[in-house]
Amino acid sequence: MSKIPELLTSLSGEKIDTVEKWEKFRRREILNLFEEYVYGVRDIERPENLRFEIKHEDIFRCMRRREIRASFDSFQFPFTLYLPLEQTKALPAFVLVLHENMENHSYFNKEGNLIFEDSLMPIKDITERGFAVAVMPTRDLYRDWMAHEHYQHGVLAAVKTPKGRQKNSWATISAWAWGTSRVLDYLETDEEIDDKNVAVIGHSRSGKTALWAAATDQRFKLAVPNNSGCMGAAVLRGKEGEHAKEINISDWFCENFKDFNEYEEMLPVDQHMLLALVAPRYVYVTSSQIDTWADPRAEYLSCRLASEAFELYGLKGFEAPAEEPPLEEPIQEGHIAYHMKRGDHSITAYDWNHVMDYFEKIIKQENEERV
Ligand code: GCU
Repeated sequence: MSKIPELLTSLSGEKIDTVEKWEKFRRREILNLFEEYVYGVRDIERPENLRFEIKHEDIFRCMRRREIRASFDSFQFPFTLYLPLEQTKALPAFVLVLHENMENHSYFNKEGNLIFEDSLMPIKDITERGFAVAVMPTRDLYRDWMAHEHYQHGVLAAVKTPKGRQKNSWATISAWAWGTSRVLDYLETDEEIDDKNVAVIGHSRSGKTALWAAATDQRFKLAVPNNSGCMGAAVLRGKEGEHAKEINISDWFCENFKDFNEYEEMLPVDQHMLLALVAPRYVYVTSSQIDTWADPRAEYLSCRLASEAFELYGLKGFEAPAEEPPLEEPIQEGHIAYHMKRGDHSITAYDWNHVMDYFEKIIKQENEERV
């Protein structure tokens, strides 16, 4: 196996041993490398003429539902905010990324769960526990690769730059992550939301998106990449299952990334460095035991290797002595949390319940520290 790049050694070979060196140099270096070689460089951040419109509000499955449209120029995309019926204070929120396959094949059952194959998003239970949920379908931001359109769609086509598309231009995952930041822009305007406590969560390709979203937008308090695997939370070098050449049949990553199909050892980054970009905030990696395509062990290894970035801040990073991921024993002591549930590729009530426990715990801890 080729050598995993060192998190705390700069390109110039310097040891990174202070927060200042991390934030001024190494963090930026790593972010730039991920942009250049993996996710692409965005042509736009928040457009000046970004607008939000509430299109419709009603009661749905005993929740308050607010349908919102974000737009600029002639581009627009929708998302839906779910809130509990009764609410006395501003609520922490989840931004849930819903990729096209999930959107196409999911339905709300009468209990208020959004069901997709073996997965379940217990939207109503989440609101009853005191969280808001903004569900963001990715379709209008950029079609998924099965509807390959060579960047002729969505926000990638809406933003025209004089130089046109380049090998390092942003691609699908980046477009979706951009969308989560715009949803957060909206949440900041909504008085019912505690906008300092917003998590971004997604399953599988949406999990990869959640992680890139939290790496690029430091307003997110917590990232939850569920079964995100290759180019999500899993260390690429030496992992089981999917690798660059398999994932690159999609257009999720920039053109430059395709150069690494047969040369992964040449990548100047690996995925533990992406987790580290979330420091000093919080990241909760969730795996499924038999999801070997994503590889739980490689996701767990990432947590272990990312820990030192959090420790630079004097924080607990990943508090896990074991070499192997323990089964259904969530690790939630530090700023990196992890669990591996039984079963295959999915997001279930098990995942959500533990993630909500952790999110509640960190909000409570921070509130106590503030007093
Ligand atoms: C494929 C792909 C994975 C991805 C998954 C999904 O299996 O190879 O990288 O995570 O689809 O998004 O469902």
